Amino acid sequence: MANLYALLGHPVGHSMSPELHNTAFNKLGLPHRYHAFDTAPEHLPAAVAALKTLGVAGWNVTVPHKVAVMDELDEISEDAQAIGAVNTVVNKDGRLIGYNTDGQGYLDSLIDAIGPALRHKRVLIIGAGGAARAVATVLSRYGTAGLFVTNRTAEKAETVAAECASATEIVPVDLETAKREAIDYDLFINTTSVGMSPHIDEVPFPVEAMDENKWVSDLIYNPEKTKWLRESEARGAGVHNGLGMFVRQGALSFELWTGEAPDLQAMTQVVKRRLG
Ligand code: ATR
Repeated sequence: MANLYALLGHPVGHSMSPELHNTAFNKLGLPHRYHAFDTAPEHLPAAVAALKTLGVAGWNVTVPHKVAVMDELDEISEDAQAIGAVNTVVNKDGRLIGYNTDGQGYLDSLIDAIGPALRHKRVLIIGAGGAARAVATVLSRYGTAGLFVTNRTAEKAETVAAECASATEIVPVDLETAKREAIDYDLFINTTSVGMSPHIDEVPFPVEAMDENKWVSDLIYNPEKTKWLRESEARGAGVHNGLGMFVRQGALSFELWTGEAPDLQAMTQVVKRRLG
């Protein structure tokens, strides 16, 4: 049966998700379609009810609905509860189940880059918003040699540390201390919007700390390499951007909906082509 899948967000005009999923459906010869619906916040409950009534099989949820949508669902996965946000909904015969594939998508793409050595890294997460919660939750569960979080507003880092930890303890560190003791970390992860337009000339953490023993990961994928990644790479650090996370979160949603693994290479090509 041909199913419809959807994206609810505001705005959604520039979203790459429709092309990402429609390409993956085509590659597998599946008859399904994916369509983005621009949904103003006040219309979210009605939009979810409409998708459910019409039997839409599943959908993604993006900014600004990832937290608010949780009130409209029947069940929330463990990951989504820990992260405190949903980006994927499965409509199982009228029962709406919320998942979060952002965190696991990020972890999958980080392992693609670093490999199993990730377990031996001391990791500093920069930022304490929704993206930081996703990253902190999966890294704590995966287990690393150390896990730290720092943020411009220190109290928010303390909240992330307290709420997202499971296997590995998450230690909040104030930003000035983290900068002074940068030698202690092996992998730095930027989850803030610093480096994205209009902040393309700013860096979230000093690059002087970076050398060939360090890894630097930025969740941003547009630009493909932020100033922080470019300058860290020039100093010899390993670098990882957010492109793989975007593809992998989509792939995990796709698997939840169809039970099949999409063509990751074709999905990556879609994104690279769109970014030019
Ligand atoms: P998201 O859900 O995408 O993570 P968010 O919840 O708005 O977005 O979180 C944004 C994060 O980026 C926060 O950690 C924020 O720091 P504050 O908690 O101090 O606001 C951080 N951030 C945004 N702009 C920043 C800037 N110019 N400098 C430093 N940190 C910034």
